[in-house]
Amino acid sequence: MSGDLAIGIHDLSVATAQYVLTHETLAARHGADVAKYHTGIGQRSMSIPAADEDIVTMAAAAAAPVIARHGAERIRTIAFATETSVDQAKAAGIHVHSLLGLPTTTRVVELKQACYSATAALQFAIGLVHRDPSQQILVIASDVSRYDLASRGEATQGAAAVAMLVGADPALVRIEEPSGVFTADIMDFWRPNYRTTALVDGYESISAYLQAVEVVWKDYTERGGRSLEEFRAFCYHQPFTKMAYKAHRHLLQHCGHDADDAGISRAVEHTTTYNQVIGNSYTASIYVALASLLDHAEDLTGEAIGFLSYGSGSVAEFFAGTVVPGYRSQLRTDMHREAISRRLDIDYDTYRELHQRPTPVDGGEHPLPRQTTGPYRLAGLSQHKRIYTPR
Ligand code: CAA
Repeated sequence: MSGDLAIGIHDLSVATAQYVLTHETLAARHGADVAKYHTGIGQRSMSIPAADEDIVTMAAAAAAPVIARHGAERIRTIAFATETSVDQAKAAGIHVHSLLGLPTTTRVVELKQACYSATAALQFAIGLVHRDPSQQILVIASDVSRYDLASRGEATQGAAAVAMLVGADPALVRIEEPSGVFTADIMDFWRPNYRTTALVDGYESISAYLQAVEVVWKDYTERGGRSLEEFRAFCYHQPFTKMAYKAHRHLLQHCGHDADDAGISRAVEHTTTYNQVIGNSYTASIYVALASLLDHAEDLTGEAIGFLSYGSGSVAEFFAGTVVPGYRSQLRTDMHREAISRRLDIDYDTYRELHQRPTPVDGGEHPLPRQTTGPYRLAGLSQHKRIYTPR
């Protein structure tokens, strides 16, 4: 906790994309054994955005129910975390601010560091609330994970957005001090400004992630953090859900603990329910994992949860949260399940067409086909401007 003041996540809402590509379809196309995906990386399907969806439309869909429940009067800042930026200069959160009709007396900023930046946004929000506990901060994480067709990373794509309302006296999870942090200059995953798909050294990225687990844990414990036994569950960044199991096994072994399968499952399995069907949502994924845990685990009141946020490049952070009494009445479990079940199944050719759809760069008028049935859409591009509308 920050001093005596409890600060943390007051509301948590997840949205995802219009379409879904199953790993059965992917396996059939590539002549792969589907067990490699289902068992080997722990993935069943991945969300694929429609032509008129992107990080902004998903973010607005995630944030709208938060505003509907709590109002916008106390929100002074929107911190939008993403790897999938839509503009080099303008913060994507300004489009969300406009779509949701939020007050002009708001600051909006975008944060980037691969899959880590939502955690930076959360810590930034906590700092602001500590300065003025009457304020609430809307933290949004929204990403579309995209690798080249037929590349090794293709099976680990996905898309989702999370909106979190951060404030004093939170209804869901109090975020504690200290944090353990890590940075090292590693080229395990990156995306130059001229590319729409990420470059990755897959095996290097897994070992960089595991190295970061060791360093953040050491830093966390040296700063007076909790001991491993105190945690009921662990939310890891999940590029694919098997990674959470790998990371937790590594942490247990590193600390000299038994790494039995049953214990590892107890600690992470409920965090993977959404991500295994949504796929990698980069910076949103750890908070999708939190939503999944809160929605599926038995009563967690008063329990400590560990958060391991990893973003290639690389930056990582470990911190703890405590689940607040009464949290269950605030959950959006039905809405989250509906966001997943409403997606339309697409075949490989439809997915490939969406994947390869070029972004117009000529500044002309480019209306986009009406595909999404979500609440907001990217209606088109006009004179290099993205036009967002309610659907
Ligand atoms: N049945 C069951 N399991 C099988 C199998 C089968 N028929 N065939 C293979 N497997 C298992 C393998 O044994 C392996 O498991 P282990 O890792 O536990 O040994 C697993 O399935 C994957 O098999 P491969 O290593 O052969 O798979 P691959 O060559 O396709 O690569 C990958 C896997 C490296 C994760 C690749 O998908 C990739 O590059 N993904 C993108 C990068 C990524 O997600 N990195 C994660 C860390 S970085 C990060 O977290 C940031 C981020 O979001 C990008």
